[in-house]
Amino acid sequence: MEIKENYSLKKHNTFGLDVKARHFAEYYSVDELKEILASDIARNNKLLSIGMGSNLLFTGDFEGLVLHSKIKFIEKVAEDDDFVKYRVGAGVPWDYFCNYMAMLDYSGAENLSLIPGEVGAAAVQNIGAYGVEVCDLIDSVETLELDTLKEKTFNVDDCRYGYRESIFKGDLKGKYIVTFVNFLLKKNPSFNLEYGSLKDLASSPEDLTVSKVRDAVIAIRKDKLPDPENIGNAGSFFKNPVVDTATFNALLEAYPKMPYYVVEEDKQYKIPAGWLIEQSGWKGKEMGGAAVYEKQSLVLINKNNATANDIIDLAAAISASVKEKYGIDISPEVNYI
Ligand code: EPU
Repeated sequence: MEIKENYSLKKHNTFGLDVKARHFAEYYSVDELKEILASDIARNNKLLSIGMGSNLLFTGDFEGLVLHSKIKFIEKVAEDDDFVKYRVGAGVPWDYFCNYMAMLDYSGAENLSLIPGEVGAAAVQNIGAYGVEVCDLIDSVETLELDTLKEKTFNVDDCRYGYRESIFKGDLKGKYIVTFVNFLLKKNPSFNLEYGSLKDLASSPEDLTVSKVRDAVIAIRKDKLPDPENIGNAGSFFKNPVVDTATFNALLEAYPKMPYYVVEEDKQYKIPAGWLIEQSGWKGKEMGGAAVYEKQSLVLINKNNATANDIIDLAAAISASVKEKYGIDISPEVNYI
């Protein structure tokens, strides 16, 4: 076990911000994680567990211990006629797992292809895209409790999943580290093709494979979203706000072309924050080194050596103007650290 000092996190956050961790450690097994957590450094510092850093905004150096899982194996642990269960290490890159399942023609994860991040963080954040959320295929989440160093498994219902929410971001924030996630994949593929151009695939269902759906999802993402390898970003910066019927009706009357998703008929409606931001005049706008991505206004990018403050200031200015024009609060999906 090695704990590094004053370690640059530039490669550990997809905004590419050059911030430092006072201490930094990676672990390859649960035992190694326990050893690190039992050390004086871990006991005397605040802790932060990160994945690929694809949903984080470091507001400055982190004066504590950053932990990163390198638990990488993927193992089939159960199977029946309909489902296979895979146990996957928290440190496995999410899209590596999606690709692996597509190669085996097991369905469930294909709509979530190419989302940057690692398996452990995916289960904390409840990543979602194109009508699917990762909780739809989670069976259980294995963790280590920080206070007791005891292992605990949460069944999917115990994880209290919601839209980009889980118990690990909520009531139990900072109390458990995800070590493995168990997924259930379908052996007889069935697909969710409700989203935009994925609908086209539904016209020839007999030819469909998991890989074909995955390829279509990858094509949509590449067209709309910046690759963090080339342009620093953390995907959607804000969540799509959910509003009540009265607010929704008033908005739709004022803006009949407004896109929306029904969360619960006559109760809750989700308004795309990207639309609100674009209509507020922010598409492509820059502030310091930060900018609003020109193809998807929900994504803020590190355009030119942005500092954390450039991104924070831009996000605050956007929220304020959406609030002023539409009376709606939009809140970050990205976690400020
Ligand atoms: N729109 C605009 N202008 C924009 C962006 C979007 O008018 O600049 C409109 C689009 O025309 C469309 C609607 O807003 O009518 C929705 O846009 P899109 O389909 O791109 O999806 P989104 O609601 O903006 C969400 C997720 C994405 C996910 C897509 C597809 C959140 C916060 N974001 O975005 O997730 O890929 O749906 O399912 O829920 C992420 O979480 O990092 C992420 C990229």
